[in-house]
Amino acid sequence: MSTTTPNGRSDVTVIGLGLMGSALARAFLRAGHRTTVWNRSPAKARPLVTEGAVLAGSARDAVAASPLLVVCVRDPDAVREVLEPVAGELAGRALANLTSGSSEQARALAGWTAGHGADYLDGAIMMTPPGIGAPDTLILYGGPRGAFDVHEPVLRALGGATTHLATDPAVPSLYDSALLGLMWSSLTGFLHALALVGTEGVTATEFLPFATGWLRAVGSFMPGIAQQVDAGAYPGEEATLETQLPPARHLVHESELRGVDATLPRFTRDLIERAVDRGHAGDSYARLIEQLRAP
Ligand SMILES: NC(=O)c1ccc[n+]([C@@H]2O[C@H](COP(=O)([O-])OP(=O)(O)OC[C@H]3O[C@@H](n4cnc5c(N)ncnc54)[C@H](OP(=O)(O)O)[C@@H]3O)[C@@H](O)[C@H]2O)c1
Repeated sequence: MSTTTPNGRSDVTVIGLGLMGSALARAFLRAGHRTTVWNRSPAKARPLVTEGAVLAGSARDAVAASPLLVVCVRDPDAVREVLEPVAGELAGRALANLTSGSSEQARALAGWTAGHGADYLDGAIMMTPPGIGAPDTLILYGGPRGAFDVHEPVLRALGGATTHLATDPAVPSLYDSALLGLMWSSLTGFLHALALVGTEGVTATEFLPFATGWLRAVGSFMPGIAQQVDAGAYPGEEATLETQLPPARHLVHESELRGVDATLPRFTRDLIERAVDRGHAGDSYARLIEQLRAP
């Protein structure tokens, strides 16, 4: 295997070659970027070296090899573990941290990186490894706009929907959490629906077209909800909470009757009931934002 010397020969360095880091390195290579790679366990670098990556002999060499460092390890503590011993090499470079973490951790890492004279971009990858490099893959960045603009042509290799959200490095983590929350609550709803219809022997595959079609309709409700949430006014123009309360109660009852976990439907029913009790029976579903904001 070839190894780098610390003389800045690559366009980009990828540190962390797990499932995601390897996909990132592969996308850079596919886009024709000279790519240096390094992983704590060197064996994971082998396939990438076969594909044209240069293996750094150490984390220090990896940092020294490129103006742009992309780090994707397990968590922010691991980022610090890798970079602290080589922090002296960071000055003048840009660190794009694509490791998942909290908004607090992003701000702390941004401060630490700035203290070592480097630009910090925090990135949230809204995709699994097979989708890295695809034209519609969304990767959200926060940090100095100038540093993003300089490195965007290289970073764009990871996803066509690469987006700079804010100069505050905390913002992508917040979007990441919000979008994952949306995914999990939707998928839990899907699984709950499967458990319910499964009590009548309906298979998941049979139910699937009804679920996906319905989610398209649900998506079409979202612009109206967003408009009402932004306006802070929730007129029940199409459906009121009063009309949604009985079906929400039926869902709880149906779940209990069939021995299916009713936690999720109870949560929704309770939100609607509380809003109705507080005098909002004529409002739309968007009214529930008030309770989520101030539980
Ligand atoms: N996989 C996804 O679908 C996905 C999607 C979006 C975001 N992400 C985020 O991407 C990051 C990496 O995920 P992954 O799926 O690639 O995980 P993974 O396959 O488990 O890889 C973890 C990587 O972190 C390294 N690592 C862990 N602890 C370390 C330490 N203390 N010092 C140095 N290196 C350390 C591992 O090195 P070794 O090989 O030496 O163990 C490995 O390279 C995570 O933050 C994850 O949340 C993943």
